[in-house]
Amino acid sequence: MTDTTKTSKGKAFAFDEKTEKAFQDTLKKYPTKMAVLLPALWLAQEQNGHVTTEIMEYIAGRLDLSPVHVYSIAQFYTMYHKRPPGRHHLQLCRTLSCTLRGCENLRELIEKHIGIGPGEVTEDGLFSFEEVECLGSCGTAPVMRVNDVYCENLTREKVEQIIGKCRSGEKLEEEPMGPN
Ligand code: FES
Repeated sequence: MTDTTKTSKGKAFAFDEKTEKAFQDTLKKYPTKMAVLLPALWLAQEQNGHVTTEIMEYIAGRLDLSPVHVYSIAQFYTMYHKRPPGRHHLQLCRTLSCTLRGCENLRELIEKHIGIGPGEVTEDGLFSFEEVECLGSCGTAPVMRVNDVYCENLTREKVEQIIGKCRSGEKLEEEPMGPN
């Protein structure tokens, strides 16, 4: 089967062999094709780095869904990148618990240190930054996700350490879960 769709860069997109296998395995686990939408978008993002409109159309074709439905779902979830993220993608929660515990100050601190605001990518591609809604860890607010790592119970010092580690290429480790 050669389902291909042009990406925004003009290249035809299709699942590669590894992703296709994961896609087929996923199809077997869910009762309907519609239920496979979120994992299929995730697989596409893992392969391509971000999810373009063309990729959404490809997924719609593979799952017999309307492109508009796929687009609306992809837009809703901030875990899907709609354009190439920086090497370190910072997602700072701005919902109630994190707001009450000072995420506004942390946003300003992050902007100061990396030189960009929400929705932007640094010129060197090292950082991208966005504010997102609840990351599901309200008990450890304020919270920021850096790529796949949850950084919790944030303080100004912790944020500065995280940014420093990203710059130096040091691996970020998740701390054990739990409130302060
Ligand atoms: S409000 Fe920030 S993690 Fe829930």
